[in-house]
Amino acid sequence: MVHKNKDTTVLITGGTSGIGFALAKKFIREGCRVILVASRRKRLERAKKMLGGISQSAGVEIICQDLSLEEAAGRVYQEVARKHLSVDILVNNAGFGMTGEAVANDVSREEAMLRLNIQTVTQLCELYLREMYQRGSGKILNVASVGAFMPGPYTASYYASKAYVGSYSRAVRYEAARKGVQVCTLYPGTTRTEFFGRAGAKTPFWAMKPDKVAQIAYDGLMKNREMIIPGVVNRLLRLVPVKIKLFAVAALKKAPTQQF
Ligand SMILES: NC(=O)c1ccc[n+]([C@@H]2O[C@H](COP(=O)([O-])OP(=O)(O)OC[C@H]3O[C@@H](n4cnc5c(N)ncnc54)[C@H](OP(=O)(O)O)[C@@H]3O)[C@@H](O)[C@H]2O)c1
Repeated sequence: MVHKNKDTTVLITGGTSGIGFALAKKFIREGCRVILVASRRKRLERAKKMLGGISQSAGVEIICQDLSLEEAAGRVYQEVARKHLSVDILVNNAGFGMTGEAVANDVSREEAMLRLNIQTVTQLCELYLREMYQRGSGKILNVASVGAFMPGPYTASYYASKAYVGSYSRAVRYEAARKGVQVCTLYPGTTRTEFFGRAGAKTPFWAMKPDKVAQIAYDGLMKNREMIIPGVVNRLLRLVPVKIKLFAVAALKKAPTQQF
């Protein structure tokens, strides 16, 4: 059982903006200590300062690490150990997307995305699961996407990476339940963050606020929900036949404005 207090340490990858930062604020308000991991030091320091403004006693540690690099998970693990901290809750949130025809993808950027969205998520899970199994407690929240529910033409490898996150997390959840560890998966729909700007697109007007997504994610994690899907429309999306969703994604992603 994880207690909501200063003895609970939460490691959040991508905790400097969007959903990750909103989750960091939520955990700080609940009295937890947070460790933020992201690739830009200035953004980490800014996030630390902002979180310090929420609570004077906020315990915020930062680790500057590009998680798309081969050895990144191991380095984060070592850095946390060097700080003499043990992780009670792991939030694998850092990720980015790519749009465009698969054959036009920049190969090195796509490799970096797959390492970040798949490899680092897997390795961090396995490193911390070992520790959590030994303690017989702990929680993991892996951030997938509603894109995990269908193949995504013109964003093929990104959607596939999120399908991996969903499948891996739900399988590991089954194993971990026997060891007292809870693994939950968050499937956000369109959310107003820096995500679309990074992918060279505009944020759609219907995007949810990251604070709302984070609140739902937090509640779902505390209730140990297997699949946490913020928003009614996003939940209903699961019921739509895959062929229809595939055509809809193709149309949206191929739109001249690249609005999705
Ligand atoms: N926004 C949406 O509509 C949406 C929908 C479904 C799923 N998601 C998923 O939600 C998660 C969070 O995304 P967001 O929307 O909150 O995006 P965001 O605002 O762009 O935040 C991304 C976070 O990840 C960090 N990050 C990116 N690349 C990194 C790297 N190589 N190494 C370490 N940290 C890295 C960023 O910090 P630095 O850049 O400083 O490293 C930032 O803190 C992602 O996994 C995304 O796929 C988002």
